[in-house]
Amino acid sequence: MCSALLGAALLLALYTLLYHALRRPAPPRARPSLRGRTAIVTGGSGGIGAATARELARRGARVVLAARSAARGEAAASRIRTLRHGASPHPGLDEPPSPAPGAVLYLQETGNAEVRFMHLDLASLRSVRAFASAFLREEPHLHLLINNAGVSAGGQTEDGYGLTFQVNHLGHFLLTQLLLERLQRSAPSRVVIVASSAHCSGRLDPAALGRPVRGALQTFQAYCDSKLANVLHARELATRLQGTEVTCYAVHPGFVNTEIFRHAPLWLKPLLVPLAWLFFRDAAEGAETPLYCATQEGLERFSGRYFADCRPQEPWPRGRDDGLARALWEGSERLVGLGPRRPPAPAARGQ
Ligand SMILES: NC(=O)c1ccc[n+]([C@@H]2O[C@H](COP(=O)([O-])OP(=O)(O)OC[C@H]3O[C@@H](n4cnc5c(N)ncnc54)[C@H](OP(=O)(O)O)[C@@H]3O)[C@@H](O)[C@H]2O)c1
Repeated sequence: MCSALLGAALLLALYTLLYHALRRPAPPRARPSLRGRTAIVTGGSGGIGAATARELARRGARVVLAARSAARGEAAASRIRTLRHGASPHPGLDEPPSPAPGAVLYLQETGNAEVRFMHLDLASLRSVRAFASAFLREEPHLHLLINNAGVSAGGQTEDGYGLTFQVNHLGHFLLTQLLLERLQRSAPSRVVIVASSAHCSGRLDPAALGRPVRGALQTFQAYCDSKLANVLHARELATRLQGTEVTCYAVHPGFVNTEIFRHAPLWLKPLLVPLAWLFFRDAAEGAETPLYCATQEGLERFSGRYFADCRPQEPWPRGRDDGLARALWEGSERLVGLGPRRPPAPAARGQ
């Protein structure tokens, strides 16, 4: 009897320890109004992206949900548009209340109508280019680019690269390059790249970037590699943007109970599901650090840094390797078919 009680107490203590170590959500904080600002959230149709988009919209921003599924993207945009302001115990971070008969109009009038879905499939460089052209044609401003979408799956894209590397890094790399001028014209502006602490196991070989992988282990390795690429992308982008008013940040959102491991092997799910349910943050909590980096005033001096729990933190050593960051940048330019930017030809200067 005694040992059963002791065992139960030990289990409870272990659970409490793990719960606080893994969840540790940052306290919700006051954020400035974002009226007049335009944001893109990739993967805004679900998980951390939808929670991020919801809070940006609640603050008054015009929000573009860039997602690959029209059904999920339109549904998420419509849910956010009809969000009722300020009436919940956890304002702006919850699902809209189910409307009472006759209340739908009221909900629509008080929600932020400036939330729209636009199609973007990061697994296709053609789709990234089409999205960027449509955005530049239809939207005059861009103040916040939240590169959030992510996947952990094997397979190869239509461009011939590993799916996870292309969705998590390469597609976002191209997207950012294509939108950079608009970010500069709208400055001050920010790019937030949702990375992960999984970058600690990342290994990037600049000679083999984007090579497709197979099997559970290689897929997980590709995920870690892509997250290291996220950290290094932010680092190199900040270096290249020095002296402009565009800043960027890499973010670990914490361990969050979302669908990120939907492609995990079946045998792993019985382990992952209870773990996520018991210990992980919910999507709104996971959105806290991306939102902090997107909206907190005075972060400019931290451009290029890695954030977790709403604080700048040191990434793992490979995430601080400037040589690797440069090699990744040049390799990514090559893979997406963008050459290094050259100065204008002498004849064109001064015209
Ligand atoms: N959850 C965690 O514990 C955790 C921890 C560290 C970092 N992160 C990072 O957080 C980010 C968000 O992940 P999450 O946890 O919110 O996962 P999630 O619930 O699976 O959401 C991922 C989002 O990415 C979108 N997406 C996937 N493939 C895409 C593609 N080819 N083109 C465009 N969008 C695509 C998904 O859209 P569909 O609905 O169409 O699939 C979905 O909206 C990821 O970058 C992930 O690596 C998550």
